[in-house]
Amino acid sequence: MALRKKLVVLTGAGMSAESGIATFRDSGGLWEQHRVEDVATPEAWMTNPTLVHQFYNQRRKQLIEAKPNMGHYALVELEQDFDVHIITQNVDDLHERAGSLKVLHIHGELMKMRSTGPSEEVFKVNPEKPEYCLEDKCPEGYPLRPHIVWFGEMVPEYENAAAIAAKADILLIIGTSMQVYPAAGLLHYVKPTVPIYLIDPQDVSIAFRDVHHIKKGASEGMKEFGRMMRTKN
Ligand code: OAD
Repeated sequence: MALRKKLVVLTGAGMSAESGIATFRDSGGLWEQHRVEDVATPEAWMTNPTLVHQFYNQRRKQLIEAKPNMGHYALVELEQDFDVHIITQNVDDLHERAGSLKVLHIHGELMKMRSTGPSEEVFKVNPEKPEYCLEDKCPEGYPLRPHIVWFGEMVPEYENAAAIAAKADILLIIGTSMQVYPAAGLLHYVKPTVPIYLIDPQDVSIAFRDVHHIKKGASEGMKEFGRMMRTKN
């Protein structure tokens, strides 16, 4: 059997928009309703951890109600023909719930909590009990924090993501404004000969590279991308 091409997919909030999860920077997006500094930075956690917990409790409850959309399922189908690696900026678990096998979360995961103690042990959230407060502690007695990469923090999975990007035969970008670094910098690891496809209803500025822009939402865009790949293969 011929070796399957490595299709690397970089997803952002637009991937989950059709599942009812708000994006960050579109009009009505999350960062219009909350100040990043108040809820998504280490300083916010130091000064008002209760507000931070409330923000992520809300996100978790919303996620538990949400379901993967046709775009997520279309990525699972592509695994029949490609070696698909998803690098996601999303903290939801909709790729996994749709059935994608290789998903790397570079900005953390909503359905996990982490000890603030030296072990930094990570714990799965029980969907039956998705709300946390300062009294919730790890077995060693340290408070638990959301397992999210906040602004100003290191991106521990970045090296792994860069290594995956460097091996791509095809890059597909879905639903990200490419405004947040270092995530947007992953593009620099992709070989210059690799074709890049973008699914996004809006213009997205991607410097230095030719991009085939499918100007549609994730579900419709994935249908078109699937058709294009079938005619090429
Ligand atoms: P943004 O909110 O910046 O961008 C969302 C993108 O999705 C935009 O380009 C929209 O045009 C596009 N979009 C909207 N609806 C869509 C649909 N139905 N189908 C496809 N695309 C659609 O979100 P991100 O780029 O993901 O980080 O933001 C990156 C990071 O910034 C996030 O991971 C988060 C945020 O602050 C952290 O919280 C650490």
